[in-house]
Amino acid sequence: MKNNAYTASVITVSDKGAAGLREDKSGPLAADMLEKLGFRVVKTEIIPDDFDAIVKALINHSDEGVNLVITSGGTGASPRDNTPEATMAVCEREIPGISELMRFKGYNITPFAVLSRGRSVIRKGSLIINLPGNPKAVSENIDILQPVLWHAVKMLEGRDTEH
Ligand code: MTE
Repeated sequence: MKNNAYTASVITVSDKGAAGLREDKSGPLAADMLEKLGFRVVKTEIIPDDFDAIVKALINHSDEGVNLVITSGGTGASPRDNTPEATMAVCEREIPGISELMRFKGYNITPFAVLSRGRSVIRKGSLIINLPGNPKAVSENIDILQPVLWHAVKMLEGRDTEH
């Protein structure tokens, strides 16, 4: 566990989850894994796949100054998958390598990893990362990101990241 914990939040993007028709396993799993990495999870919510709802949630979380905002779901190519577009609507700067890493490493686990259109962006000092929706993908991708997450949020804060 690291000192001086950074904060994190999790947004599950799912029509079925938001309507109570499907239990959200991905959000709690992401929150649990982030806590184990030393983040203090301050907010979790489940929202439908509406573009406007996603934009609003991303703005709320970053306005509140959360260091790391993880979304889960809605990154694929089906008609209701709006997460990447909503994320780009709030994007100030993009860190493409984070999403590239997930697709590159994920391909060795399942070729379908390349079907995720997830993006990784910065808004108001918050790092926003889109993960796919299924719990397996959430777990695999947080494992993949684990070596870079802490350094990334530190960098955004403008702290000394020399090593
Ligand atoms: N990445 C990893 N590591 N593991 C997975 O199981 N699932 C893929 C992909 N990325 C997957 C993954 C699948 S099947 C899809 S359709 C896309 O993520 C998009 O998922 P989403 O629409 O739930 O965001």
